[in-house]
Amino acid sequence: MNKKTAVITGASQGLGKALALAFAKEGYALGICARGEERLKDARREVEQLGAEVAAVQADVTDSKDVERFISIVEDRFGRIDVLINNASTFGPGPTLLADYPAEEFRDVIETNIMNPFLVTKRVLPGMLTRGDGSIINVSSEVGKYGVAEWGAYSVSKFGVEGLSAIWADELEGTGVRINTVDPGEMDTVMHDIALPDCDYELAQPEDVTGVFLHLAASDDNGERYEAQTFDVKGASV
Ligand SMILES: NC(=O)c1ccc[n+]([C@@H]2O[C@H](COP(=O)([O-])OP(=O)(O)OC[C@H]3O[C@@H](n4cnc5c(N)ncnc54)[C@H](OP(=O)(O)O)[C@@H]3O)[C@@H](O)[C@H]2O)c1
Repeated sequence: MNKKTAVITGASQGLGKALALAFAKEGYALGICARGEERLKDARREVEQLGAEVAAVQADVTDSKDVERFISIVEDRFGRIDVLINNASTFGPGPTLLADYPAEEFRDVIETNIMNPFLVTKRVLPGMLTRGDGSIINVSSEVGKYGVAEWGAYSVSKFGVEGLSAIWADELEGTGVRINTVDPGEMDTVMHDIALPDCDYELAQPEDVTGVFLHLAASDDNGERYEAQTFDVKGASV
């Protein structure tokens, strides 16, 4: 019950799994989720092999009932949540012009990428506010700052994540709960394969970019935006 606990959404592969393993190595207990059961089980096994305690819950974080179940299981098991990383995201269809973008897919990407950090943060906040301590990290993207042709609803959703984080950071100022965003940069993941199927240059591995997240878990920063691949672990962007 005394260990610090980190909740990471979408932790069955890619960046989310790399973050779960990095926080496990630092001694955190973990709450992780994803929709697909098999890969989530594999991720849970890898985290447990590092000696960490983990609650792995099959949950869709766009569904408020699933969010309630997931977070309740983590709180019942570990007593508190110190760090929340809103990592789960979908890219939607591959590169598509806005004019050609199917409306239902547009809706689904916005729903997944904006509603899920809103719902999970809203559910986790009361416990953090009661303790006057907590770190929430929203995973954004370079295309949350710059509009780029064919990045469609994914880019729009990441602009939304930046806005959500900025507003919440202002509202939480002085409470002890901090909220920041991280752009992890391009990484070799399933999502990257969908976004840039013809990519022919070398990519960072998700485990290369976890340092900034560990920094933010313990820092007083609020309302900041970091780029993970230019982050100096001593605490400053280079
Ligand atoms: N890869 C890059 O180059 C890159 C660059 C900039 C930013 N990012 C951001 O980094 C984060 C991680 O990306 P990634 O490349 O690691 O993605 P990924 O390989 O596609 O993994 C996404 C993870 O999220 C889970 N997930 C998706 N929708 C979910 C939902 N509704 N509920 C619960 N879990 C869900 C997936 O599992 P299930 O499908 O089983 O649910 C999976 O575990 C994302 O926020 C992404 O936008 C990535």
